[in-house]
Amino acid sequence: MNEIALYSACCSLWLYLLAVVIRRKLQCVCDDRMDGKTVIITGGSDGLGKATAFNLARRGARIIITCRDWQKGLAVKQEIEMKTDNSEIILKKLDLSDYTSVQKFVDRIVKTEEKVDVLINNAGIGIGSTVNKNGHPIIFATNHLGPFLLTLSLMDLLRKSSNPRIVFVSSVGHRWGHIEFDTIETEDGGSVPAQFRAYTQSKLAQILFMKELHKREHKNGFSVFSVQPGTIFTGIFRGFPWLLKLITYPLFYLILKTADEGCQTQVHCSVSSGLEIYSGKHFTECRPEEPILPANHQQIAEDLWEYSEKAVGYLSKKSSNIQPYYEEASIHYFTSYLDDFRQR
Ligand SMILES: NC(=O)c1ccc[n+]([C@@H]2O[C@H](COP(=O)([O-])OP(=O)(O)OC[C@H]3O[C@@H](n4cnc5c(N)ncnc54)[C@H](OP(=O)(O)O)[C@@H]3O)[C@@H](O)[C@H]2O)c1
Repeated sequence: MNEIALYSACCSLWLYLLAVVIRRKLQCVCDDRMDGKTVIITGGSDGLGKATAFNLARRGARIIITCRDWQKGLAVKQEIEMKTDNSEIILKKLDLSDYTSVQKFVDRIVKTEEKVDVLINNAGIGIGSTVNKNGHPIIFATNHLGPFLLTLSLMDLLRKSSNPRIVFVSSVGHRWGHIEFDTIETEDGGSVPAQFRAYTQSKLAQILFMKELHKREHKNGFSVFSVQPGTIFTGIFRGFPWLLKLITYPLFYLILKTADEGCQTQVHCSVSSGLEIYSGKHFTECRPEEPILPANHQQIAEDLWEYSEKAVGYLSKKSSNIQPYYEEASIHYFTSYLDDFRQR
């Protein structure tokens, strides 16, 4: 019995030391300030988004954090203001799985902001088996389609910045993702493997969108990055069944990064000066690293852009005056597409 206790203690100590060593490497060492810059952080009400907001608030940025639950968001806004002495924390409602909510958010931002310097597409979910109002799987809508619409709709405001940046918080999960257009609408489902496929697909989609955006907009001064933050003990695991939580949470607490440690790469890509030459790159541990992409990823990225435009009813005009519009037809198109697929 004593041997087992000793063995467990040694294992725990070893894991703990390993976690400490791993975490140490992850700090963004840049001390650039962000005074005068406006940053939008989606999902700033929790986890990595909240930790990022804290970090950038200390650097003097004006920060717009988005939330779905107003009371929860308000508490976070007040906490950031109090602890960082930055009174320029603005709270806005946004549900990325609802394209009308995205439209309303953009309408409000356009009225209040003269420019946006950095957009951090951070919000995301890992678990969810429902579909949104448009019939799109909730994971794909929240992690890719909503941010796609949001990003394109904010391009004009970002263009007004002298050095606009867009950061996508992806995941190591992109490695297992496949974009398959004929099943994209049905990839979700009740089962855990189906949700995993939906998640990895959405995380790959974020990187492909980032690459395509870089191709189209870097020449116009935009710097775009995707990041994988590692594995962080945040609310993303809250959908676990309670028994799984009971087993995994103590271990997660011991070895996974905290939100503050995990947000370092997205902070780095948002603030570090001189990073423009790395636009179009994927970052991990505050360094560029090649993502694992399918061989024909450039073609898939173009197709995904076209698909996403139709899915959210967005028409990108050739002129700089990009305005989103919503087409009922696109909703009907995808609903009938889904019905058709389900009957097959
Ligand atoms: N944690 C990890 O290990 C890990 C690893 C790789 C990548 N990531 C990525 O990191 C990002 C942040 O995740 P996290 O770990 O910080 O998770 P989290 O603690 O659950 O925070 C997620 C944030 O996204 C918001 N959100 C969820 N659904 C939304 C929607 N439909 N519209 C708008 N906002 C929504 C949440 O708002 P509410 O407060 O309203 O729920 C919350 O603020 C995600 O994109 C995730 O995929 C996380």
